[in-house]
Amino acid sequence: MKTYKNLKIIDHPLIKHKLSIMRDYRTSKKEFKELLDEISMLMAYEITKDLPLKEVEIQTPLKKTKSYMIQGKKIVLIPILRAGIGMIDGILKLIPSARIGHIGIYRDHNTLRPITYYFKIPADSKHREVILLDPMLATGGSAIASVEKLKEIGIKKIKFMCLVAAPEGVENFSKVYPDVMIYAAALDDRLDELGYILPGLGDAGDRLFGTK
Ligand code: PRP
Ligand code: URA
Repeated sequence: MKTYKNLKIIDHPLIKHKLSIMRDYRTSKKEFKELLDEISMLMAYEITKDLPLKEVEIQTPLKKTKSYMIQGKKIVLIPILRAGIGMIDGILKLIPSARIGHIGIYRDHNTLRPITYYFKIPADSKHREVILLDPMLATGGSAIASVEKLKEIGIKKIKFMCLVAAPEGVENFSKVYPDVMIYAAALDDRLDELGYILPGLGDAGDRLFGTK
């Protein structure tokens, strides 16, 4: 398997197990969402490993002690609509104070080109670390367009987190943004002629929201 410098697969038995259930076409909408919450939380735990800490002094019931807390501004979570929304709840369980922005993008069914229809993020995001969220990295068009918009307004610290990535998407994304790390639960085989990831898990938005 080809390796990519800016791709990190979060390799964990629980994530693998849960993702297998998500891939199964018989999995219900309810369970699909619950599993997406759980995997997102597990992945966020790993991805935030490098958050800076500051030393603080705490008074326990017994004595004063030095301890640690997260330093700096709260991170910003930015889901790519629609399916990225499904990743927010799980991460908020770990980082309840995270700020939240939204980017609305869909793929034109014929050209597979990304169409942006909404962009609203916290005003001071350029001073914060941003985690961009979408379960699927297929051609990479949606993720590339999103990063482009974030960079345009001066955001420098960006991580992209997805569940399933296609090699084509990783390749395209890495060519344009080799400086942005992609975190994925799995790197799949390829895209089909309609731009779906194989084996993938189908249309993430439709399975999440029950629209098909
Ligand atoms: C899906 C998915 C990603 C995008 C990935 O969204 O949630 O945003 O496709 O494909 P790409 O890497 O080729 O851009 P979709 O376009 O189906 O929009 P929707 O969630 O609004 O239905
Ligand atoms: N978007 C999805 O939701 N699924 C795919 O397989 C590809 C793009």
